[in-house]
Amino acid sequence: THVVTETCIRCKYTDCVDVCPVDCFREGPNMLVIDPDECIDCAVCIPECPVNAIYAEEDVPADQVAFTKLNAQLSHAPGWKSITKRKPALPDAEEWKDRKDKLKELVK
Ligand code: F3S
Repeated sequence: THVVTETCIRCKYTDCVDVCPVDCFREGPNMLVIDPDECIDCAVCIPECPVNAIYAEEDVPADQVAFTKLNAQLSHAPGWKSITKRKPALPDAEEWKDRKDKLKELVK
């Protein structure tokens, strides 16, 4: 599978969803995740993300490995819905895109 990591939090640019051939992105209040049951590892979303939030599972950085499980959990969590069309990024995306340690900002 592919994994959306911390950089997405409070940004949610959504360029990724437009290119996904299997519509495997799920949307929460301030982040997207990938449903590992649907992802076919095509990797086309990776270069679409303007903040490089998406990795193949085997390439997820060591400090981001918790996100592999989080993507799996949240993709089936109540309220997390399929998103297949790009929409405007969150209003403060530019301000948050270079911040680190955003896991505590994640709204589930
Ligand atoms: Fe998030 Fe990047 Fe997609 S910021 S919504 S993974 S384009």
